[in-house]
Amino acid sequence: MKAVICTTYGAPEVLQLTTLKKPVPKDNEVLVKIHATAVNSGDVRVRGLAVDGFMKIIMRFVLGFKGPRKPVLGTIYSGVVEAVGKQVRQFQPGDEVFGSRGFKFGTYAEYITVAEDSPIDHKPSNATFEEAAAILFGGMTSAFFLHKAGIKAGQRVLIYGATGSVGAAGVEIARSHGAVVTAVCSEQGVELARQLGSDAIVVYTSEAYKQLNDPFDMVYDAVGKTTKKTFAALLKPNGIYLTVGGLSMAKERKKEITFLKQLFEAGKLHAHIDKSYLLTEIVEAHRYVDTGRKKGNVVVKIIADNA
Ligand SMILES: NC(=O)c1ccc[n+]([C@@H]2O[C@H](COP(=O)([O-])OP(=O)(O)OC[C@H]3O[C@@H](n4cnc5c(N)ncnc54)[C@H](OP(=O)(O)O)[C@@H]3O)[C@@H](O)[C@H]2O)c1
Repeated sequence: MKAVICTTYGAPEVLQLTTLKKPVPKDNEVLVKIHATAVNSGDVRVRGLAVDGFMKIIMRFVLGFKGPRKPVLGTIYSGVVEAVGKQVRQFQPGDEVFGSRGFKFGTYAEYITVAEDSPIDHKPSNATFEEAAAILFGGMTSAFFLHKAGIKAGQRVLIYGATGSVGAAGVEIARSHGAVVTAVCSEQGVELARQLGSDAIVVYTSEAYKQLNDPFDMVYDAVGKTTKKTFAALLKPNGIYLTVGGLSMAKERKKEITFLKQLFEAGKLHAHIDKSYLLTEIVEAHRYVDTGRKKGNVVVKIIADNA
């Protein structure tokens, strides 16, 4: 099968297209023919070992010293089940599925084997494979953080960095719970923030941003660029500050995947695909995500949707 490998940390050019053996599912696994994957901030961070100071050492321990121990990167997939192990009950050949591999990686490839009880579900019935791949990374992250914080109807929520994969999903998930969302983004992000249905949009370089003074029940920094102190004057006395930039990591669970599937099917979550690439263009895709300026999601087509 075709796959992209990364054998050393570095610039996007370290990614190489190669041919690997097609995997065979164990008794508890399904073999998925991948139609689409995504390139997320997490992928480019791993490829470039783009973390500060001491974290570089920890990352080398976790991921591999000279390069990733698991050379096929990519955490997100959507595709069709081609075969199942004999203990598998929930899936059968022909099922359209989507899922996340987290630190197990391996989705920059034509096939993957995954355990039935891993974060996998049937893909939303109204989603293309590309859309299904687009909603997972940011969606799982924001569903995890917002649900853990107990987001509720009627709360005033400020989402800082509303136009990345995590932030865009955050706005739609918060609104699906009935929260009233103020999206903070750049001038270039206003159009997407509008499409997300934000109740208010504030540009972070504007005078209006400096003058925000009506306090919020929750501030969610979806790009990890602030601290609680930044928003001290904008939080109600029992207000909650959340950031994706701290040590807390979103868990990779079936629960969030199923939630996202239902939200997408209900028309309350959208894919927001900024750019779409082919597997042969993975270097370009990584270059673009490396800019840190993408709007929503970047997907990689492995098989055309109608194939
Ligand atoms: N803790 C966890 O479990 C967890 C899980 C997933 C992700 N993360 C972290 O979450 C962060 C966001 O991930 P992502 O995938 O959403 O990233 P992303 O899609 O690459 O984010 C890009 C977006 O962020 C906006 N942005 C960049 N700098 C900004 C700033 N100073 N203020 C406001 N907006 C800014 C950009 O808009 P403009 O250029 O127009 O400003 C762009 O739309 C990453 O640092 C990632 O490592 C953490």
